[in-house]
Amino acid sequence: MALAVDGIIKLRNEISSQRLIGIRTLEVDKIRGSDFISGLHFLRIGSEGIVVFPHKIEEQSMAEHKKNQLSSNIEALDDLLGGGIERGTTTLITGPSGVGKSLLATQFLVSTASSGSSVSIYTFEEPAFSMIERCRSVRMHVDPLIDSGRLQILHINPLEYHPDEFLHIVRKDVEERGIEAIVIDSMRGYQLAMEQFGNIVGHTQNLINYLHGKGVTCFLVNELEQVTGDLKISEIGISYLVDNAILLRYAESGGRIIRVIGCLKKRLGKFQQELRELSITDEGLKVGGMLKGFQGLLTGVPQRMDV
Ligand SMILES: Nc1ncnc2c1ncn2[C@@H]1O[C@H](COP(=O)(O)OP(=O)(O)OP(=O)(O)O)[C@@H](O)[C@H]1O
Ligand SMILES: [Mg+2]
Repeated sequence: MALAVDGIIKLRNEISSQRLIGIRTLEVDKIRGSDFISGLHFLRIGSEGIVVFPHKIEEQSMAEHKKNQLSSNIEALDDLLGGGIERGTTTLITGPSGVGKSLLATQFLVSTASSGSSVSIYTFEEPAFSMIERCRSVRMHVDPLIDSGRLQILHINPLEYHPDEFLHIVRKDVEERGIEAIVIDSMRGYQLAMEQFGNIVGHTQNLINYLHGKGVTCFLVNELEQVTGDLKISEIGISYLVDNAILLRYAESGGRIIRVIGCLKKRLGKFQQELRELSITDEGLKVGGMLKGFQGLLTGVPQRMDV
């Protein structure tokens, strides 16, 4: 039979083991005289008809770097980062719950959108309105940027999307809307969306390869379970994929909880190897000077040193 036909396309409808949802896939076994992408491709049947999301392996290339950096619009933070974040690189913003990861990532995108670029935040956890409300409460001016279409905040339900379908959304935003920077908030939500369909590191690598190739700057928000104790950049094994890593931590100082920010790595540029205080106020995010006179800040329980 297989010899007699010019093409074989297999359609499957399987129930996923963990979520008990139906997953339709398409697999091309043979197309005579033509190349095709092997493997399983996710397929959705909806009001738009049949849509196939090819599992395309992106090439590992890096778009030629535009020399400029993306500023956070907070002077002391840009200074800590050696001027800002290089365009086209991927940055992990990592820290425990409530420490300010989403606000910091949004700060970078708001600053980029304010200088005329189009940007997108994909939120896997909280709905867009709650993010917008928080931005308003710290006087981050997101409304005019959203109204002008330069800032898009898209809530993605992780239980609904397939990784290649999500990548399809990102590709469309980059290629049709000219998006120059994105935030994925957070990797835990992204992981929830991915875990049914293979390995999170593989999907993240494919996404980063695509963004690198297009010169799109990416911020990945990563939540750490641990509030204090031994330092880990990421608990899901993606730290080696990123170009830059910014760490946020809580620390105790004289009975007060403070937030600490530091840059752990930057592949393409210099940065200040010091820790600074981050404050979230009604007036916005503020970064102070180097925290002096402490030891063990990264453990969350620092000791005062005599200076
Ligand atoms: N107007 C404000 N003034 C002071 N602090 C604020 C204000 N608005 C929000 N915050 C603080 O910002 C923090 C939330 O910031 P953000 O949502 O960026 O944190 P996160 O690390 O992303 O948290 P999560 O892990 O829950 O996603 C809260 O802990 C809150 O205390
Ligand atoms: Mg958050």
